[in-house]
Amino acid sequence: MKITPVTGALKGRTDAIAICLFDDELKAPKLTGLDRRTVSAFAKLISASRFSGKHTETVVHFSDGAQAPLLILQGLGSRQDFTWRRLRLSAGSVIRAAKGNSAKNLALFSSNSYGGDLDAGKTARAITDGLILGHWSFDHYKPKSKQDSVAQVSIYFATPARQKAAVKSIALAQILAESQNLARDYGTHPANVVNTDYLRAEARKLARMGVKVSTLERSQLQKLGMNLLLAVGQASTMPPRVIVMDYHPRGAKKTIAFVGKGLVFDSGGLNIKVTMMDEMKSDMCGAAAVLAAMHGIARLKPKHRVLGVIGACENAISGNAYRPSDIYTAYNGKTVEIGNTDAEGRLVLADTLSYVVDKYQPNLLVDIATLTGAAKIALGNHADAVFSNSEQVSKQVIAAADAAFDRMWPMPLYEEYGEEMKGATAVLKNAGSDRWGGACRAAAFLQEFVGDTPWAHIDIAPTGFPAVPSSLSPRMTASGTATKTLIELAIKE
Ligand code: BES
Ligand code: MN
Ligand code: ZN
Repeated sequence: MKITPVTGALKGRTDAIAICLFDDELKAPKLTGLDRRTVSAFAKLISASRFSGKHTETVVHFSDGAQAPLLILQGLGSRQDFTWRRLRLSAGSVIRAAKGNSAKNLALFSSNSYGGDLDAGKTARAITDGLILGHWSFDHYKPKSKQDSVAQVSIYFATPARQKAAVKSIALAQILAESQNLARDYGTHPANVVNTDYLRAEARKLARMGVKVSTLERSQLQKLGMNLLLAVGQASTMPPRVIVMDYHPRGAKKTIAFVGKGLVFDSGGLNIKVTMMDEMKSDMCGAAAVLAAMHGIARLKPKHRVLGVIGACENAISGNAYRPSDIYTAYNGKTVEIGNTDAEGRLVLADTLSYVVDKYQPNLLVDIATLTGAAKIALGNHADAVFSNSEQVSKQVIAAADAAFDRMWPMPLYEEYGEEMKGATAVLKNAGSDRWGGACRAAAFLQEFVGDTPWAHIDIAPTGFPAVPSSLSPRMTASGTATKTLIELAIKE
């Protein structure tokens, strides 16, 4: 989809015209840029449809006198309650209406862009994000009959200065949102498609964009002593592997490392899952965010070195499955007793994190994982959990999330949580003895594997899958959360 900022009047005809209005401007909407007949068609539509301007309200109408056959009226809600998030939801509704009615070209007018009371760059960014996310759908396994797509959107701005201010924002927002869509694809495909080979193949696509891609295969993992990751993956017919994507620009002074949990499927292992096992195709959403962010980073070319690392395997069941009570020695030498084979993500991350710390000494280390149901119980469906050994890093991650329209919230990492992960017969155990504070305990377990490296852990179990259905997210699909946050961190840091 091509998105172009324009200014002045809509010349000639197009397929669809959308106007976004606050609820206080329905009587005399400023519809500069449209011809008389189009303005009058919209005015009639506003009264005939009893449009109230609520931010979730969309009215679609076919008209023959106006500059487009399809007219879309979109509410922005009240001015007092305006947020950039609401604006993107509105943009999502508009693009869905256009796509759903087979429009190829869309002209988008909003009172924000006329008025100049809202920052033009931010307006452009929110609208672009909403358009690209709202346009996404997951149709890979459906008949091709009715799969429309909008090819081109013109966003109208009141003045040349505002149009100019939007140019860069749109270009950036487009790469960010397209990366998120990539993560949504990865997370929504089932595990028989997105297996550990698939993740490697997607990483290798980065090679032609100047990113060095290498993998640690089973024999190397054995040599390196990454026994926790190997134990989790040993029952599966899919090869476990660590995938390393290294974006290393000349003159880079800092290294930022992203580590993603890549459980292509989590059956629970011998502690087999009794509920919602089917959703565990999404247990690689952390890896999806890292992989998709690296695709965005390769396009944006920031000045820092950025490593994207994925611990990929399947938590399966066979005669060779790892067992509760087994003890394994981690890459960093710590012994771990298996309390529960369903607490596998932290094992995979533990080895991957300590390997990355050891080999690359990053200045900033961030891991992303669908790690605990407990995080989802704590925060529900609307924010992901951030843990860190540094308050400054925690703030940095949350600020990046805010800029990226992801939602993250700080959680505690008191040393007492770590005490609860001490083993009886080994140094550590992978599961606590009861259910309390499961997300905090998992984070405390990971902390044992990062040393003094400035580090944050993002538990995306809350919002990773399924995304809450909205104008931006279809039912039962991955959200792609954290993808844009990671890119923000890479380009800002
Ligand atoms: N992948 C799950 C966590 C999860 C649960 C993500 C629900 C998204 C939705 C993880 O591997 C897991 O099973 N965690 C256990 C840990 C427990 C056994 C200590 C959990 O959260 O119940
Ligand atoms: Mn599990
Ligand atoms: Zn898992």
